[in-house]
Amino acid sequence: MVYYIRFLKTPRVQKQKTGALSVSALICITTDLGDAFLAEDVDLLISLNASNADQVLYQERVKWTASKREVPIALGPFPPHLSKHTLVLSVTAPTDPRKPRAPSADTLPPSQQHAAPLVIPGWSAPFGGSESPVAEKLVERRFGPQGLRIWEETGNSIARHIWDAALASVTYLQQLATAVPTTKTDAAPQPPVLHDLLTNCQNRSVTNPLHAVELGSGCGIVGISLAQTLPNCNVVLTDLPEVEDIVTQNISVAQPAPSSRITFHTLDWDDENLPEEVTNGGAIDLVLVSDCTYNADSLPALVSVLDRLVRASPDVLVIVALKRRHESEEAFFDLMRGAGLSSLHRHCMQLPAQHGLSDQIEIYCYARADGH
Ligand SMILES: C[S@@+](CC[C@H](N)C(=O)[O-])C[C@H]1O[C@@H](n2cnc3c(N)ncnc32)[C@H](O)[C@@H]1O
Repeated sequence: MVYYIRFLKTPRVQKQKTGALSVSALICITTDLGDAFLAEDVDLLISLNASNADQVLYQERVKWTASKREVPIALGPFPPHLSKHTLVLSVTAPTDPRKPRAPSADTLPPSQQHAAPLVIPGWSAPFGGSESPVAEKLVERRFGPQGLRIWEETGNSIARHIWDAALASVTYLQQLATAVPTTKTDAAPQPPVLHDLLTNCQNRSVTNPLHAVELGSGCGIVGISLAQTLPNCNVVLTDLPEVEDIVTQNISVAQPAPSSRITFHTLDWDDENLPEEVTNGGAIDLVLVSDCTYNADSLPALVSVLDRLVRASPDVLVIVALKRRHESEEAFFDLMRGAGLSSLHRHCMQLPAQHGLSDQIEIYCYARADGH
């Protein structure tokens, strides 16, 4: 289980009576569900950056200790000319020993690498300068060398957050898309059809792209990462209308690979009709589902959508990433079997947990079972 830096109070810049400026915020380090705080000591680096140049203006270290539920940040006093800068406040855990390793022959086999650090850093929205003195209630996550940047809300919504299985999905799909097939025994196990589908994108074209649909995309991190990784890839993110603002913001700052594109379309699993924008006339290659099995009540509707998508596009592959949160999720597997969807492959990605432990995200590759 990884832990996310969250802003309980987003950063604000204030003018003191002396004319000097101060910057304050309130943060915590909590799980994706927001149901537990990090119970481990960790050093945090607070950086005040100029938003346009990503130039560090000031840094300070703060300690998060195991018993804490929140940490106030109070920076300053700063000279009045700080007001000419639009600011971004970032909170990182630079000494986290469980940073993910880059996949390489010299490091651990991919199956044993962590897909994320224990503490996921956060960047605020811009504030001060030409912006409002108080940052919007958003936090940005920045991942990896590909420049993946995803905004989340700071409140307690289920949909407008990044969830743990999404972090594992991003790493898994990137590893598959960039992996060279190898005979080494420590290579990450690769479902050949999925590996071929992802690595053949180079040979596609703008008129024959790979079509991917993500269900319950939330902020859109998995689908956006796919479109940033693969050229000639058309990704349709779908979710309830409540995510539209945040997912549209993320699409607007995404950097898709050449000839790839990302769109959003609302899709409620309870709706009977699947829009043409989603089904693509029965020519979908890949469906992505990440952390959508936590609510047993919505499983029949979710599997019904998957069933209809697979009937329309019989050769589609369905990637389901899940973190087992309770027993009732087992019903998902029975429903998938009942819908004639069989698992070609199961892979486990490791996420770090506190006290040196690990957590597992299961990733399944489903396809239509023979005879269906
Ligand atoms: C736990 S979040 C996971 C978000 C994202 N996939 C991730 O892993 O970060 C589950 C997502 O499923 C969506 N969802 C739940 N019920 C839904 C429904 N009936 N129709 C469409 N989306 C739904 C939620 O809005 C939410 O975005």
